[in-house]
Amino acid sequence: MAATSVVVLDRGNNTTCTINLHGATVVSWRVNNQEQLFVSKQAVFDGKKAIRGGIPFVFPQFGPSSFGPQHGFARIVRWNLEKAPERLASGDVEAIFSIMDSDFTRSMWNYQFRLTYRLILREKELHFNIAVYNPSKDLTFSFNMLLHTYFKVPDVRRCQITGLQACTFIDKTREGAIYQEARDVVTINEWTDRIYQNTSQEHIITNVVSGRKMRIQKYNFPDTVVWNPWLDHAKDMSDFGDDEYPNMVCVEAGHVSSPVILLPGTAFEASQILQVM
Ligand code: BG6
Repeated sequence: MAATSVVVLDRGNNTTCTINLHGATVVSWRVNNQEQLFVSKQAVFDGKKAIRGGIPFVFPQFGPSSFGPQHGFARIVRWNLEKAPERLASGDVEAIFSIMDSDFTRSMWNYQFRLTYRLILREKELHFNIAVYNPSKDLTFSFNMLLHTYFKVPDVRRCQITGLQACTFIDKTREGAIYQEARDVVTINEWTDRIYQNTSQEHIITNVVSGRKMRIQKYNFPDTVVWNPWLDHAKDMSDFGDDEYPNMVCVEAGHVSSPVILLPGTAFEASQILQVM
């Protein structure tokens, strides 16, 4: 198995998106040659472990699980390239990735499923369209899903995140205590691990690379996870440099605080658009 296989979407003007088939992990998104995503210098590309950075695909569980790996198996299996990169009439470039159940996935999660992940690279945007299909005639299944996006930033302490005000959040740094966000913009100055619920369809992160803003638009993803390990928790991760935490922030669109329940013969769709402003 070629564990390092990558697929490149190239829109011209040094605007590219690189996807590692291991987990269909987006490992690079360059806009005019400027990298937008953080990947740890210590990330492991062994075709086994989840890649530390970029955009790992979390499915069918979020967080620890009693019957499979943390954050599910989708980020540690090899995906199929369903449709190789193709230039559309608009000049944008599209590629489609997929996975379905296998002996390996059924050993952890005994359901038939089909998951397609369509990426479209535009001039300053990256679009993600996801569909999960339940082909069973009689079995309903439930799952969580999340795009674990690691944004590259010069200094996380200078970022502000909109779209979270008044939302309830589960604070994983305080044993899951539940609070309500009072701030109109969220800033990060310490270990942060929060599941914000029923968040706005749009978030803006200020002071990403080149001092620009990043817009996140999401559909059918009611939750937003905000995570930065800070120094102490960076030290706990073998695939994350101790000094790297100021240069990343995870703002993750997902359906995680309640499960998606998928009836036989039906599909779930969700999407995200990232835009450099
Ligand atoms: C975040 C979780 O989404 O992912 C954190 O909220 C977790 O609790 C982090 O630590 C990283 O997870 P992992 O499995 O990639 O180390």
